[in-house]
Amino acid sequence: MTSATSAIELQLFQAEIKAGIPAQLPTPQPRSSELSHAPVRKDILTAKEKELAMRNALRYFPADQHAKLAPEFAEELKRYGRIYMYRLRPSYAMHARPIEAYPAQSAQAASIMLMIQNNLDPAVAQHPEELITYGGNGGVFQNWAQYRLTMQYLSQMTEEQTLVMYSGHPMGLFPSHTDAPRVVVTNGMVIPNYSKPDDWERMNALGVSQYGQMTAGSYMYIGPQGIVHGTTITVLNAVRMNDKDGSGPAGKLFVTAGLGGMSGAQPKAGNIAGVVSVTAEVNPAAAYKRHEQGWVDHVVEDVKELTTRVKASVDAKEAVSYAYLGNVVDVWEAFDAAGLFVDLGSDQTSLHNPWAGGYYPAGLGFEEANDMMANDPDAFATYVKASLRRHAEAVNKHTARGTYFFDYGNAFLLEASRSGADVMNEEGDGFKYPSYVQDIMGPMCFDYGFGPFRWVCTSGKAEDLELTDTIACDVLEQLMQEAPDDIKQQMDDNIRWIKGAKANRLVVGSQARILYADAQGRMEIAKAFNDAIADGRLAGPVVLGRDHHDVSGTDSPFRETSNIYDGSAFTADMAVQNFAGDAFRGATWISLHNGGGVGWGEVMNGGFGMLIDGSADSERRLTSMLHWDVNNGIARRSWARNEGAEWAIRRAMEQEPRLKVTMPAHADDDVVRKALGHD
Ligand SMILES: NC(=O)c1ccc[n+]([C@@H]2O[C@H](COP(=O)([O-])OP(=O)(O)OC[C@H]3O[C@@H](n4cnc5c(N)ncnc54)[C@H](O)[C@@H]3O)[C@@H](O)[C@H]2O)c1
Repeated sequence: MTSATSAIELQLFQAEIKAGIPAQLPTPQPRSSELSHAPVRKDILTAKEKELAMRNALRYFPADQHAKLAPEFAEELKRYGRIYMYRLRPSYAMHARPIEAYPAQSAQAASIMLMIQNNLDPAVAQHPEELITYGGNGGVFQNWAQYRLTMQYLSQMTEEQTLVMYSGHPMGLFPSHTDAPRVVVTNGMVIPNYSKPDDWERMNALGVSQYGQMTAGSYMYIGPQGIVHGTTITVLNAVRMNDKDGSGPAGKLFVTAGLGGMSGAQPKAGNIAGVVSVTAEVNPAAAYKRHEQGWVDHVVEDVKELTTRVKASVDAKEAVSYAYLGNVVDVWEAFDAAGLFVDLGSDQTSLHNPWAGGYYPAGLGFEEANDMMANDPDAFATYVKASLRRHAEAVNKHTARGTYFFDYGNAFLLEASRSGADVMNEEGDGFKYPSYVQDIMGPMCFDYGFGPFRWVCTSGKAEDLELTDTIACDVLEQLMQEAPDDIKQQMDDNIRWIKGAKANRLVVGSQARILYADAQGRMEIAKAFNDAIADGRLAGPVVLGRDHHDVSGTDSPFRETSNIYDGSAFTADMAVQNFAGDAFRGATWISLHNGGGVGWGEVMNGGFGMLIDGSADSERRLTSMLHWDVNNGIARRSWARNEGAEWAIRRAMEQEPRLKVTMPAHADDDVVRKALGHD
């Protein structure tokens, strides 16, 4: 491309953004046949509600266009269960551009445009034309009119205005001040009694609410890198926790299932952790895709052959990963029959969605199962339940011999229990196995403030990302010299991760990186980036952010806050306080979502983005906000009497005298029981 054509392209791109919803409607284009599309949604609206959905969609357009648009929108609603307004898809290619390409009065607003476009980039997003970034229903916007209007507002806004986003709908620009967030996002906020999955279906079909997942609706998704990192940290720590004889990972066996979107990172994590791993996957396309990508070493189609090869690898103490093309239940049963000891076990089938393809029952072929779920859903549900009972029975045989089994946040234990499987504890008030947050992420990471800090180099230059890797690594190595023993291991894991990050070629979309750091680590790394922007070593500003799957941002009783045992796991004060606290400490944008990970109505979660530009003002903001963004959650975890968190918040108070946190006293069990007359 000549520089003249690229200059023209840039002008057209900027003009289209500035035009918002164009006065002259673009010509309709068919949906792409190459991209993945969102599943057809349930036909949930009554006839009257369908009229309402149409009126809601048409209010984005002048009345003289309604006769033209109405039949089109009616057809979309009928065919897909939603009105996406495909006609308004922009004509330019969707991907993050260097920050200076965006037409804007404010660099902060331009950085948000960059992040929005990254979340919708076909290389990054799951169903880009339906504005879904990941997780099947994690929306950035509900329709293309919202996208166009939002980009237009961002191009117009000054640093004395704030854009208000209601579940993808830009309510408008409101006067504010330079220190206020430029954008405030809420997704799926509903009255608590109306937060069942069908309430989402109805409100989303009406165009009045959306499921933002975690980083989809908050413009902070960075592709598969986040998952590889999180899974590696989980598997590494699970192996360590179970290394009772101190022999290390070599020769330990990890059995799990799922080579899909997130689960596909398991074999890669197993290799990094140095164990033998077996990941069952029923879908040949998923298994071979991961094999071709180099995420799993071998695909084996016969369970007898698998048993022999795995035995040999365990004896040889190899770090190797096997995909078994078939049902995970068959693996658990075959390994039991062969007397093969499994050190660690888990499951990452999509049991948050058991009746529509998230879990394939044992005893049915893959295609047979697909047919049955579409044509005889009741029979399919019976198979799923029977399979879950068989699945749990096989796992129980292994755990009786010493296998450590954990739930991987995929609702395995929840759905197994609902199917009548033997997974409840003796008291019947909980599961007999822990979740990965209860045993691993919570006590080892979140309670100490370690969580998924991330950043994006807005210059779009790979050299900038490389330099930030070096800077982050230097900072962590420096902090490591003085770090107390309790947190050395976490820091060491992340130093190793960042050293290998470039070689692992993890970037998809924007120039982004993730690592786990505590409050001090996050602040020091961010300050060092700010210095490097100021003295010109970095070519452009940097966006700081994090996954919502973190210390403070998420109240989720079956995941992030599952290791809170003071009865407050079902409260959501922490996430809401976090959102509000980030807002007045200098975040560039903030978000609060209902749903994310475990489902609508099951979790409240929030996040932030912050543009740093090398100024003293950026340093003030990042110090103030990152400190709160981590210590809020540590304080709550400490108040819940979590040991690591009590240690971490005491340390934080020593480091920052202005921090004064209410500490819990521990009551003696005898005193409590005696007073209540309990034995
Ligand atoms: N990795 C993480 O960081 C993480 C964290 C928390 C929760 N989760 C949960 O893990 C689950 C998986 O996520 P995903 O994005 O990989 O989903 P996905 O649907 O893309 O992948 C799941 C895979 O499991 C396979 N499968 C289903 N039943 C099977 C069976 N009986 N035997 C063998 N294979 C079977 C499916 O074919 C599919 O490829 C979700 O419920 C998610 O919420 C993941």
